[in-house]
Amino acid sequence: MSLETRPHDTIRAMRWAENRLQLLDQRRLPGEAVWLDCRTAQEVATAIREMVVRGAPAIGITASFGVVLSAMAHAEAPDLPQAMEADLRLLAESRPTAVNLFWALDRMRRVLAARPADPVAALLAEARAIHEEDIAANYRMGELGAALIASGSGVLTHCNTGSLATGGFGTALGVIRQAWGEGRLSRIFADETRPWLQGARLTAWELVQDGIPLDLLVEGAAAALLRTGQVQWVIVGSDRIAANGDVANKIGTYSLAVHARHHGAKFMVVAPSSTVDMNTPDGASIPIETREPAEVLACAGQPVAAAGAGAWNPVFDVTPAELVDAIVTERGVVERPDTAKMRAMMA
Ligand code: MRU
Repeated sequence: MSLETRPHDTIRAMRWAENRLQLLDQRRLPGEAVWLDCRTAQEVATAIREMVVRGAPAIGITASFGVVLSAMAHAEAPDLPQAMEADLRLLAESRPTAVNLFWALDRMRRVLAARPADPVAALLAEARAIHEEDIAANYRMGELGAALIASGSGVLTHCNTGSLATGGFGTALGVIRQAWGEGRLSRIFADETRPWLQGARLTAWELVQDGIPLDLLVEGAAAALLRTGQVQWVIVGSDRIAANGDVANKIGTYSLAVHARHHGAKFMVVAPSSTVDMNTPDGASIPIETREPAEVLACAGQPVAAAGAGAWNPVFDVTPAELVDAIVTERGVVERPDTAKMRAMMA
């Protein structure tokens, strides 16, 4: 496997360069494309927490390279796994909702526990495999998801689920890339996605870079858009899918699912199997990250709210399985998900 690209797929947001991880700083897009060097596991954890890199699969891949940096820093330690433990914990604490983070760290821990002769080489090979497998999964999900979309359909997506949020190509945005390439889409709409504006800044940047036209809307316009009948599929990613098919994703996803059902549009969730957490029975058990009120009270660093106002800032919500028409993973498509169907897919 390789970090290959395809038509409408030119962006990669992370790269390993000998002894450091380089991340495209997503806080500065679309204004400037600046690569940030991470030379320690601590720098990687900070980059994840501070949204230099974000999106569930990208967080997992990035953390796995953070483990490589930790092994390099402790290469001389008599007990390497023990010496790396604090770094592994720090990486695990960087963000709570995206289960891909814990899934990737578990894979890296298993490699370490096997006590390979050359731990840095073995961990680097595993991190590279996690990255390449994610791209391959995205290509497969792109094909499976696009096949569900009738020719001439309009789609609406939320947040950023593209190359920036994954190893490359994307989950929901991968389906949209694929469906666009196959000539299936009449129009692509994207929510701006307050407060970090992942839709306006990142999804729009990716699609423009890759020559795919889109129209942005404020979240408040979604119901009105669906009412016009221009959208046949709402397509989103996920940070964690529970065993019963409940889906945690960027705040605002749940209201899109309600609006989609009300207006007769279909709701598709696209995520690799590394996002499925069969140990979490339902959405109520998914830890939901809450971030600083300042993110809501300001926009691009400029205060926008009246001084003295407080803010509630949960950054994910849970869409109940009954509002989901299809979950697409690289293992296949689950329509109208429930625990039995999820179990069968993950078996
Ligand atoms: O807070 P973010 O930007 O990390 O949130 C990202 C999302 O909610 C994405 O939809 C999700 O991680 C899936 S990305 C393929």
